[in-house]
Amino acid sequence: MRLLLSFCLLMACFSCKETPKPIAKKPVRGVITQKAMVVSAREEASKIGTAIMQKGGNAFDAMVATEMALAVSYPYAGNLGGGGFMVYRMANGDTGALDYREKAPLTSTKDMYLDENGDHIPEKSQLGALAVGVPGTIAGIFEVHQKFGTLPIKDILTPVVELANQGFVVTEKQEKRFQHYKELFLKANKDTIPILKGYQANDTLKNPALANTLQRIIENGRDEFYKGETGQKLVDFIQSYGGIMTIEDLNKYEAKWRDPIQFKYKDLDIISMSPPSSGGICLAQIMKMIAPYDLADYGHNSLKAIQVITEAERRAYADRSFYLGDPDFVDIPVDTLLGPEYLKNRMSDFSFDRATSSTAISHGAIPGYESSETTHYSIVDTFGNAISVTTTLNGAYGSKLYVDDLGFFLNNEMDDFSAKPGAPNMFGLIGAEANAIAPEKRMLSSMTPTIVEKDGKFWMTVGTPGGSTIITSVLQTILNVKEFGMTMQDAVNAPRFHHQWLPDVVVFEPNSFDPAILKNLNAKGYEINEEESRIIGKVDGILALPDGSLEGGADKRGDDTAVGF
Ligand code: GLY
Repeated sequence: MRLLLSFCLLMACFSCKETPKPIAKKPVRGVITQKAMVVSAREEASKIGTAIMQKGGNAFDAMVATEMALAVSYPYAGNLGGGGFMVYRMANGDTGALDYREKAPLTSTKDMYLDENGDHIPEKSQLGALAVGVPGTIAGIFEVHQKFGTLPIKDILTPVVELANQGFVVTEKQEKRFQHYKELFLKANKDTIPILKGYQANDTLKNPALANTLQRIIENGRDEFYKGETGQKLVDFIQSYGGIMTIEDLNKYEAKWRDPIQFKYKDLDIISMSPPSSGGICLAQIMKMIAPYDLADYGHNSLKAIQVITEAERRAYADRSFYLGDPDFVDIPVDTLLGPEYLKNRMSDFSFDRATSSTAISHGAIPGYESSETTHYSIVDTFGNAISVTTTLNGAYGSKLYVDDLGFFLNNEMDDFSAKPGAPNMFGLIGAEANAIAPEKRMLSSMTPTIVEKDGKFWMTVGTPGGSTIITSVLQTILNVKEFGMTMQDAVNAPRFHHQWLPDVVVFEPNSFDPAILKNLNAKGYEINEEESRIIGKVDGILALPDGSLEGGADKRGDDTAVGF
């Protein structure tokens, strides 16, 4: 009898649908606040942004403070020497987007990173002065302040100057990173740089040079960076390292207001970043391609859910490579790329039986991934405005070139162009002519600051660093809440996977996925990589709960912190 029972149970198990491993036994909620919140990569930045809102400032005032506080306390990606994107949704439902992406200098050329044989020299576009795009961050914060700010810039930035003067506490993760990049810092810079003074966790790192730069910006405004003493010092420095940026490049830089990409996913309205970021278009393509499939029924990180998402990602990233670039330079067929017929057709050859081969969609031989850094923060204010901002130096500490006199690192965003169409950049992403280098052009990005509405009301603000994995991490976080009923905190912490067409491999966070599912995927023709997953984002989001309170999701993978009131 017992034997028969065991047999029946075994048979029942074989016939039941595959049940994925539960993520967390008990849902874990993140920080809950009633009125306002900032979630960012550093507690100091979240606190400064929150304090601005406590003084009566709105989310846009808080954006200016948070962005600069990250430049002080998170030099890995926070910046004055880089650029970014902001998506906003006002309390009245108005939406918009700001592009403060870096631009190629006026004398840049299509083949500036190629050798005499026409081969890409990656170091030239990744390390040192030639890798630096014209920075957009200071233009970005002043544009935001001019259009939406309510507090004087002095009141917003003075706490940041104080942070730079008094210093921030180095975390263990920061100590490790300072060490990790030591050789590259020494290679890129003529002398040692302050970050290499041997800081250990719990030490205080002060940056009086950056405090002085910010103080001059308070006094002289945006022009200090693009026309004044700071700008002149910046170009003199870059040129002394063999760079091509001139004061004319800085003079000509403008941040641009753009229409965000807006689309529906079931009962959600999603607002995300438009080109020159690929984020919004790719996210929209993927979500529209997966919408007909019942992911909730398949289960979180189940075999079928992973297959559907991977196949949609494969097709969206293939399109990204070919069609996307700076919209001021190339025509992007946005309506077609997001059209229902086109996307239905795109998925028509997908089968649960077997992986589609990326070479069947296009071709190319691509090496692996590299680490990437960028940073994201989400803010909701007491007035009901929400913003989502992703900002970057591109690689960790950008070009590794540090302007000692000004107190900040410079980006290596030029590597986000396709230096040679068909050749991969540092994220293994390949591009076509649409993303070729041209003077004053903005390089294609993957940054995906996103806001989600439900029933016409603000529901979520979300985003992440992670280079090419940004889009797929934002996607999974939204799905985790919408389809799998997770809290915001569980949604950002949940294990993630990533596929980007080429290389034809699916990357999984190590030791986080059911080995039987990975084996099964492999048997269906998916190449699995569980090793190179340190780049699968650090997502920061805020979710509006049904009772009107806010839940912060601060990714456990970093020092990320939610603060609010
Ligand atoms: N530099 C990373 C990105 O813009 O996607």
